[in-house]
Amino acid sequence: MNIAANPIIEADQTVYLKDYQKPSFLVDSIHLDIQVYDEHSQVDAVLELTRQTDGDLVLLGRDLELKSVVLNGQQLSQEQYTLDAEQLVIRNAPNQIKLETSVIIHPESNTQLEGLYQAASDLFVTQNEPEGFRKITFYPDRPDVLSVFTTRVEADKKYPVLLANGNLIEAGEAGEGRHYTIWQDPTKKPAYLFACVIGDLAVLKDRYVTSEGRDVALEIYAEEKDIPKCHIAMEALKHSMRWDEEHYGRPYDLDNYMIVATSAFNMGAMENKGLNIFNTSCVLADEEYTTDAAIMRVQSVIAHEYFHNWTGNRITCRDWFQLCLKEGLTVFRDQSFSEDLQSAAVQRIDDVAVLKAHQFPEDSGPLSHPPRPDHFVEINNFYTATVYEKGAEINRMMATLLGKEKFRKGTDEYFERHDGQAVTVEDWVAALTAGSGVDLSNFLTWYNQPGTPKLEAEGHYDVAAQTYTLNFKQSLKAHPKYPNLKAVPIPVALALFDAATGEQLVLNSDSLFENAVKDGVYLFDQDQASIVFSGLSTKPVVSLLRNFSAPVNLEFNYTDEELAFLIQYETNGFNQWQATQTLLERILLNGHDAHIYIQAIKNTLPDLVAQDPLLASRLFDVPSEGYLGSRIDTDYEPVKIQEQRNALIEKLARELGEFCKDTYLALDPDLQKEFSQAMGVRALKNIMLSMMARQGDETAFELAYQQYEATANMSERLGALRVLVWNDAPQAEAALHDFYQRFKDEALSLDQWFTLQAAHPCATTETIQYLTSHADYDLGVPNRIRSVSGGLNANPVNTWSFGVDHFIGLAKYLDEKNPIVGSRLLQVLSRWYTLAEPQRSEVKAKLEALKPQVKSKNVSETLSSMLSI
Ligand code: ARG
Ligand code: ZN
Repeated sequence: MNIAANPIIEADQTVYLKDYQKPSFLVDSIHLDIQVYDEHSQVDAVLELTRQTDGDLVLLGRDLELKSVVLNGQQLSQEQYTLDAEQLVIRNAPNQIKLETSVIIHPESNTQLEGLYQAASDLFVTQNEPEGFRKITFYPDRPDVLSVFTTRVEADKKYPVLLANGNLIEAGEAGEGRHYTIWQDPTKKPAYLFACVIGDLAVLKDRYVTSEGRDVALEIYAEEKDIPKCHIAMEALKHSMRWDEEHYGRPYDLDNYMIVATSAFNMGAMENKGLNIFNTSCVLADEEYTTDAAIMRVQSVIAHEYFHNWTGNRITCRDWFQLCLKEGLTVFRDQSFSEDLQSAAVQRIDDVAVLKAHQFPEDSGPLSHPPRPDHFVEINNFYTATVYEKGAEINRMMATLLGKEKFRKGTDEYFERHDGQAVTVEDWVAALTAGSGVDLSNFLTWYNQPGTPKLEAEGHYDVAAQTYTLNFKQSLKAHPKYPNLKAVPIPVALALFDAATGEQLVLNSDSLFENAVKDGVYLFDQDQASIVFSGLSTKPVVSLLRNFSAPVNLEFNYTDEELAFLIQYETNGFNQWQATQTLLERILLNGHDAHIYIQAIKNTLPDLVAQDPLLASRLFDVPSEGYLGSRIDTDYEPVKIQEQRNALIEKLARELGEFCKDTYLALDPDLQKEFSQAMGVRALKNIMLSMMARQGDETAFELAYQQYEATANMSERLGALRVLVWNDAPQAEAALHDFYQRFKDEALSLDQWFTLQAAHPCATTETIQYLTSHADYDLGVPNRIRSVSGGLNANPVNTWSFGVDHFIGLAKYLDEKNPIVGSRLLQVLSRWYTLAEPQRSEVKAKLEALKPQVKSKNVSETLSSMLSI
């Protein structure tokens, strides 16, 4: 096959959901023997298989050097099977099979970070989701084949740590300076949850006793110097274990739970049964080295992977189209967990901000797909914001609608019905329906169609009748691949306020909605509907879609005064924040008056700072250039957006000048007892400092430098450094140099040093060149690549000028070396078609020119989709 000449994805490479067929054989057990050497590794596997349906025995395998195949004791000759680059097929296989294979693999030169790979000079780890296991041994590598794994791991003693899933049942000498361990995992699992680790690592140990009385050994493995940075993760793990018992009735089921940290990892982390493997960025957390935001992320990812034990591992996916079954549900669970750790309003704000900044644009462009796609070429390309974040929103909507008690009955039913099975999205919705007694089947529409619904609302007050009527209308933009788009069920949470007093009113509605739900949540599931509220002697102020009760684009023409009112009086923190965002967007894009916003902030802040400082800090969020750009579908000019946004910030800084200084000087995070409060104070101080600097206050640089030097906290240090560097303060160079010296041996902190410079508002192609040719830049470490690329992309003017070559260059370079990461980085350019000419055509030509130069399914599929608009 000559794909280099014509890399257009061939039709037969596309996999369709409608073609799903049961596997012809199930694997009753697998015994793996993995022997790691410097120059290669050998993997011997013994599989016991039982026929389930007619058909060939298909064993998937990629990059495996086959040494021998023995079937029921008989060595097979090459005529007895067919072998190609993707599979080994045995025709006319008997119904009961014992299959023994032996293969050679090369983890020491595996740069794709998939399968078994060498992650550092003294560490080998695995990443098998979704299809990495086939790079370890021949196997029916699909999630609906569950088996009992026994694993022997053997290596040189220079690697003292030899881990695999389940219980350690044996360990010993293997001669020639080598040793081995044998692990048995009692729970049946699909191959994507298999893991092993071979290396030289230190460990932090703890214990946890489950609600059932099981005493679980907890272990976090990391480099010796990083062990002190594992305590926050350990506490988060214990907290997650308790939380899942209390909120979902789900205790842990093994006697040990291990987490291994590595800096060479494509994603955040992986939920392998009893042996999670984590990107260091999602485990290591210490105030001295880690920002508050990163600490929050560590806790949520620890929880996420732990929660997968029930939603993902014990109940898994039938096929990869169902990915959002486990990911959407698990993200919803980790978001709920995080809402208990900090200001719930801010957690929701952050989650929605991610949704709007990533998922909404994805869903409005050429990469748009349903949360449950119905076809793909490369499943790795579908670990997307749509599958994860929109998937989570669908679960949240159902949970909102059911309320706590019924939702719990629904999830109990799901665990009761499907424990130990590989299931579908339909199974999940059916179990929720049966358990709760509420028919949720029309939520399947959300899973099956792409696009962000538009929700248009209008309100009318009738003085004579003393009624307030809300009319709703929903619509979806036509999609070429999905012609039959249907209305979706939209839970609308709302409140009415007395315009004079700011008090929330009791809702008295004569609803025309089919399902009016209590607590101000209305289910709107038709194309159009209205609600009439009665007994209102004055026109109320309405607050719609409280807590962002559905992932839709709401259009409602609030007056600026109403938005200012909501900033002051709305008790739902999310909608309070949303009002600031809507108002700021208008000031920015439509030239509305900024004073209304400034006055509302001044009125609101004093009380809020005392109550929820983090929420207070978020009221200063100015929509990012990237987000604003993503709202523009044609003739997008990044420079224009940048100018408008800068003008707004200057204006706010000028108007709020003294106020910022007073607030900055009055705040002290050290006076806060709770981490979450202190985090809020730090965030607010950093914003005040950057406003002061923006305004040209000379003392701002001195205060920033003092803050930089005096603190031992990363959020304070980095916040101060950012103010100095981004404003080209006289102290900037010294501080940058100092930061480098302090943290040059701390990869994650150094990532921040790279990001901060790449994201400088005036960063140029030279800045990026300097960073990417720095001795500490490393194209083999995804975290380091992302530190620069992410910083660059914080500035869309740069993304769409010299950034185009940067991202295309990376996609080309990584196409073979690490296609998962290459494909993701290329997606940064997916909205090229919205640009104004001539940029649009220039970028398009560059993307077209890349086509014949890439051959991985990952990058090719992404590129084809991007150009298909
Ligand atoms: N299941 C992991 C998680 O979300 C993500 C694994 C993604 N891996 C990949 N190769 N795309 O927790
Ligand atoms: Zn996950």
